[in-house]
Amino acid sequence: MTETTPTSLGMPQLPAPDFPADVRARLEADAKEVVARYPDSRSALLPLLHLVQSEEGHVSRTGMRFCAETLGLTTAEVTAVATFYTMYRRKPSGDYQVGVCTNTLCAVMGGDAIFDELKRHLGVGNDETTPDGKVTLEHIECNAACDFAPVVMVNWEFFDNQTPESARRLVDDLRAGRPVEPTRGAPLCTYKETARILAGFPDERPGAVAASGGAGPASLVGLRLAKGETPHPRVVHPRGEGPHGEGPHGEGPRDEATRDEAQPGSAHLSSHDAPQQTSASDPAHPAGPVDEEGE
Ligand code: FES
Repeated sequence: MTETTPTSLGMPQLPAPDFPADVRARLEADAKEVVARYPDSRSALLPLLHLVQSEEGHVSRTGMRFCAETLGLTTAEVTAVATFYTMYRRKPSGDYQVGVCTNTLCAVMGGDAIFDELKRHLGVGNDETTPDGKVTLEHIECNAACDFAPVVMVNWEFFDNQTPESARRLVDDLRAGRPVEPTRGAPLCTYKETARILAGFPDERPGAVAASGGAGPASLVGLRLAKGETPHPRVVHPRGEGPHGEGPHGEGPRDEATRDEAQPGSAHLSSHDAPQQTSASDPAHPAGPVDEEGE
């Protein structure tokens, strides 16, 4: 008799099937390498979940069973982790996960409008995949790229300063197989390939590591101010009114802030330019030490 396990609805559920022998052999070899990095094998659970995700494009019950058997955990323990983190997908998804940041800053800068436009354009809702299996659309949380809001991420690579129009072109290019280049960071790869890199295996594409780069200019403005440097003041043009045309994926007018970093002498002001003396910005409430009563 086949052993079954109860589900949350009380219905018996058949055990997860195993991977085909050749796939399992390959995963076991990779898993051995991952587990060897940690003094305690159970610490390897997060990268192992990425590893099984790189095989199927999502974390299936079979993948969770593999992780549990490899690490000596129960499937319940593995399930608890896999269902907690949103980077693990629980159902088949597209080659490209297009995540639109709709957290507060991106939302007010246009993220909500981008998400609505992509829903309409692609004919899918949140966490749904286009019929050709290319694009899965989803809301994402803040990815610490607020300087470049509104941000769209494709397989966790950044597409900064997007507009509904540029985001629409982006998904059209992805679906048509046209080359797409992130605003910064490593070149784009498929969701499965991304999962393997997240499992800790090197990105062996030529130039990929070098392209990863560092922080963008808008992120470094605060550091430059702290060092006593004066960033070139810049201006934010309303969309469509900037002197530069849009780039292939929406390097829209608000990219002035980034571009002008490389243009000494530019005389623009920007929302990125914080006042250098904070107290001077509000003489009625100068910044200073708070007394013991907090007054
Ligand atoms: S709110 Fe979108 S990256 Fe921070």
